[in-house]
Amino acid sequence: MNNFVFQNPTKIIFGQGTVSQLGKEAAAYGNKALLVYGGGSIKRTGLYDQVLAQLKEHNIEVFELPGVEPNPRLTTVHKGIDICRANGIGFILAVGGGSVIDAAKGIAAGVPYEGDVWDFYVRKAVAQSALPIGTVLTLSATGSEMNGGSVVTHWEENLKLAHLSIHTYPKFSILDPTLTFTVPADQTAYGSVDMMSHVFEQYFSHTADTPLQERLCESILRTVIENAPIAIAKPDDYAARANLMLCGTYALNGGMISVGVTNDWASHGIEHELSAIYDIPHGAGLSIVFPNWMKYVYRERIERFVQYAVRVWDVDPTGKTDDEIALAGIQATRDFFTRIGAPATLSEVGIGDDRLGEMAAKAVRYEPLGQFKKLTKEDVEQIYRMSL
Ligand code: NZQ
Ligand code: ZN
Repeated sequence: MNNFVFQNPTKIIFGQGTVSQLGKEAAAYGNKALLVYGGGSIKRTGLYDQVLAQLKEHNIEVFELPGVEPNPRLTTVHKGIDICRANGIGFILAVGGGSVIDAAKGIAAGVPYEGDVWDFYVRKAVAQSALPIGTVLTLSATGSEMNGGSVVTHWEENLKLAHLSIHTYPKFSILDPTLTFTVPADQTAYGSVDMMSHVFEQYFSHTADTPLQERLCESILRTVIENAPIAIAKPDDYAARANLMLCGTYALNGGMISVGVTNDWASHGIEHELSAIYDIPHGAGLSIVFPNWMKYVYRERIERFVQYAVRVWDVDPTGKTDDEIALAGIQATRDFFTRIGAPATLSEVGIGDDRLGEMAAKAVRYEPLGQFKKLTKEDVEQIYRMSL
């Protein structure tokens, strides 16, 4: 196990009816809030009215930034920064999925910064502070509700980049599983793939002697595998939605499940290049890429893939070689993603082979990608080809 520091300052308020605590929590951060939300799902579900009522009850003046795109755009983040500066707003409330929360984090870090907030995403500057953020989560997937990550797209340059900071952890997040009852089947599947992928990025590692971290990862994976099909078949199944919500939050919250473990994150880098150009949902891209990354790298530490197959997928090892066991686990992953309705190939989402080299080059822009196997441009391009 490596040495580590773990710090996660986010307060989680979990359960049915917890939106009733929003006003009280928000009031701790001043009397002016920027309400950030997406394309309208919160208006259709009635959550918007509930949120406004809570803020009004606590005398909080509300400014709005609606229309945050899935794969949120830098231009939208700029808009939010301008509204905050013009009105002296000191608190950002994100109500939505990962895209809304990520945009809110960009705004929060951008307001006190003199330069362009994009500097943080291109690693030109490091955020020194941010406005406080609160969230009401409506989609289980990214873990953004309990981490400091923000992923924003500069659409004109086809760049989708992440910024991580201790300053952009939400102060509080309200997690009411009933708010996810309306998430459609496809987004439920993509969210489930995303949270599993977050676990994979932390689980496929060379770090030795980490049995607790490995079993935490395996537990989350098994819980998603059990609950995603239930939530898809019966969208208002409270237990399934609650379990998925908890899995998403645990899977990526500053590394709690992988303290002292070297993480990988190559597949996320490979996926982000896809959505930067083709604007596909993040979880759909991961569903295509991740099993191919697994096939490409599994021999780097085959024992870990054997363990994954046996412990997560109950592959019977009797009479099989390590290769056969590992590949059975990878195939089970692919079959599960297909079973819940997530895509398996780039062609299914309308992506051809014309820009693979360009994406591969961008994926390794800073350094070789990943840790489990450090991928060169050629490796990344090969994984894209396997995904066609
Ligand atoms: O925009 P609205 O109308 O709200 O609709 C959204 C959107 O169309 C809809 N939706 C959300 N909650 C709903 C709902 N529809 C019905 N009922 C509800 N309760 O779902 C669609 C997708 O929403 P989005 O926020 O884009 O999904 P997700 O939570 O998967 O977020 C994806 C973004 O997060 C980034 C991804 O790259 C992508 O940009 N990520 C953020 C991470 C982080 N901050 O830690 C890590 C991840 O690896 C990921 O990269
Ligand atoms: Zn992800």
